Amino acid sequence: MNVPELIRRKREGGELAPAEIAEFIGGYVEGRIPEYQVSALLMAIFFRGMSFDEAAALTRCMMTSGRTYDLSHLTGAKVDKHSTGGVGDKVSLILAPLAAAAGLVVPMVSGRGLGHTGGTLDKLDAIPGYRWALSEDEFVRQLGTVGCAIIGQTPEFVPADRKLYALRDVTATVESIPLICASILSKKAASGTRALVMDVKFGSGAFMPTVEDSRALARQLVGIGNALALPTVAMLTRMDRPLGRYVGNALEVIETVEILRGAGPEDSTELTILETAEMLVLGGVEPTVESAIERCRQHLADGSAMAKFQEWVAAQGGDPRIADDTSLLQLAPDTTMFNAAAEGFIEAVDTRALGVAANTLGAGRLKADDQVDLGVGFEVLRQPGDPVRAGDPLLRVWHRNGRGLDEARRLAEAAYRIGPNKPADVSLVLERIG
Ligand code: URA
Repeated sequence: MNVPELIRRKREGGELAPAEIAEFIGGYVEGRIPEYQVSALLMAIFFRGMSFDEAAALTRCMMTSGRTYDLSHLTGAKVDKHSTGGVGDKVSLILAPLAAAAGLVVPMVSGRGLGHTGGTLDKLDAIPGYRWALSEDEFVRQLGTVGCAIIGQTPEFVPADRKLYALRDVTATVESIPLICASILSKKAASGTRALVMDVKFGSGAFMPTVEDSRALARQLVGIGNALALPTVAMLTRMDRPLGRYVGNALEVIETVEILRGAGPEDSTELTILETAEMLVLGGVEPTVESAIERCRQHLADGSAMAKFQEWVAAQGGDPRIADDTSLLQLAPDTTMFNAAAEGFIEAVDTRALGVAANTLGAGRLKADDQVDLGVGFEVLRQPGDPVRAGDPLLRVWHRNGRGLDEARRLAEAAYRIGPNKPADVSLVLERIG
């Protein structure tokens, strides 16, 4: 293979054949193609994009670059959900047992926090004893007995994405729609799911802030998912404010328990129900989104979703008593308030800045090898549209001995735009693409 010629062709806006893409990715994973050439191709893709066929071919060969989980012997429709990430997004922790309670098999392979956004594995680390590093056998067995599992990636799982993502991170080529699609869908297809609900966030706390970019990403995800025989529905949802009541790992597990008890905040509860309902329809266990929403409400009200949550947590070594006693979740010992600087309405929140502020307290990583503090974070006391007076609390803050507190206060208080205009009520879901 003439690699410089291939890079040149993409640089000039030409198209690569599926066989060339497969040979290139295979060569990279096996160490025959050096990172400087892969970096050059990534940058050419970043600027020139990829055709639909190229992006689908890239997804396919990434998917088969390592072990793929075979769940075909399990009864029950295999359906998963993935979010492009945000601040306070704990939906997966409720959705997985809720969907399993309704009869789906949910094989979730999750990641750590990325940039200003939280990660499902970090939240799960806050559950005493929870083990997300299951072997393939344990994962498949648990899906057969419990109906859901949330695990981390092993080195054998989609190694092409593991290597490419690390390289994209240091070559400023992350924000490319075909590369994001291939990265997300290759992992989902390899996990054994047969259908997918994608939550594509837009707004100040989203990975792709503009609605236009998020819509383009959602359309491409749906198109490529369907081409891979992975029926995919995408929802464009608002991340211009933190989702739910809490931001921070142990705090988000507390909110998970509150939602499962039927006492959670409206926004995170409703988004969870809606995404789970889409899964039930995709999996064929409910005929319409409306009937699926009813079914989800029943499973929350009759305790079966909570019972499934406890069964799942216990199966992975976690302490199921957290469902009855959230004081088993360790919060940081110190609390304080961040307050409004002026009087008026909350007109907008820079949600990315809030995510960075939480990371500054230790809730996420500023460098890849940082230790996460599972007990720190915020309770969100005011959201856009709420009136405030100067000095009113905006956030209750859990911190450890003031670590990162001054910087977090500066970031968080400046993140709230307060002014005379009450913003119009907006719906959390902008549109559905499927
Ligand atoms: N999440 C992923 O898994 N991959 C991307 O490229 C971006 C977000």
